[in-house]
Amino acid sequence: MEASLQLKEGSIQRDEVVVISGAGSGIGLATARRFAELGYRVVACDIDPQRVDEAVGDIGQGRHDVWGRAVDVTWRAGVQDFVSQIIDRYGRVDVLVNNAGITVDARIESMTESQFDQVMSVNVKGVVNLSQAVIPAMRQAERGVILNASSVVGLYGNFGQTNYAASKFAVIGMTKTWARELGPSGIRVNAVCPGFIATPMLAAVPDKVLEKVVQKSWMRRLGEASEIADVYAFLASDAASYINGVALEVSGGISL
Ligand SMILES: NC(=O)c1ccc[n+]([C@@H]2O[C@H](COP(=O)([O-])OP(=O)(O)OC[C@H]3O[C@@H](n4cnc5c(N)ncnc54)[C@H](O)[C@@H]3O)[C@@H](O)[C@H]2O)c1
Repeated sequence: MEASLQLKEGSIQRDEVVVISGAGSGIGLATARRFAELGYRVVACDIDPQRVDEAVGDIGQGRHDVWGRAVDVTWRAGVQDFVSQIIDRYGRVDVLVNNAGITVDARIESMTESQFDQVMSVNVKGVVNLSQAVIPAMRQAERGVILNASSVVGLYGNFGQTNYAASKFAVIGMTKTWARELGPSGIRVNAVCPGFIATPMLAAVPDKVLEKVVQKSWMRRLGEASEIADVYAFLASDAASYINGVALEVSGGISL
């Protein structure tokens, strides 16, 4: 599956290429849209081919430079092939947003090995796979930004989410490690820790729990995907040029 759209005259086009995983839904889709509006060349990938098609069509609309491909971030060879295609096509990767992530919830006593492995595979190995594939191009360019999706669950843990909490803590650990390893080459690495954001991912959370979350939230509402997209856009920009190795909570203050 492959799709692309060209810019119409008059749009402000930049040269920078942003790659976003899990771009077919929720935060990833909103992030792809935000970067396209900012004039980046957007490369969208998602495990679901139909979602990639729809995202590319939706965001492109003949106005933005968006290209996409179905990719499973857990499949290392597939990810490497995908990034080779990006380099052939654009010759660069400026920003990577490791957004793809899943939940498969169960309490610790009942969590199966497969449930644990599934979540670790997408949320941790997927982040490693895509990052390792783009880092050579960033090192060569001596610049780049890697943004990783963690969660408030990666800061504080959560009931029924042993696997997800482990994966999102791991994302923060990798972020801080790569910030040290890659910072000297001009590559900044940061994590974003959203609170509860209204996306299809929350469909797995019972309404009663969500009501409690809203009551506990100092802003008395869930977050919007666009509010996380704006944070990724900021962290990718030169306005954040000295921000490296942070795990930025974006939760409306839910942990206060
Ligand atoms: N929604 C929230 O409240 C919330 C809070 C904190 C963190 N996050 C994190 O933000 C990220 C996006 O979450 P969302 O709420 O937009 O979720 P979502 O379920 O709406 O979207 C996730 C997308 O990732 C894709 N995906 C899943 N497995 C994949 C794989 N192996 N390879 C490629 N793509 C894959 C899915 O097809 C989907 O389109 C996730 O990492 C999630 O853990 C979300």
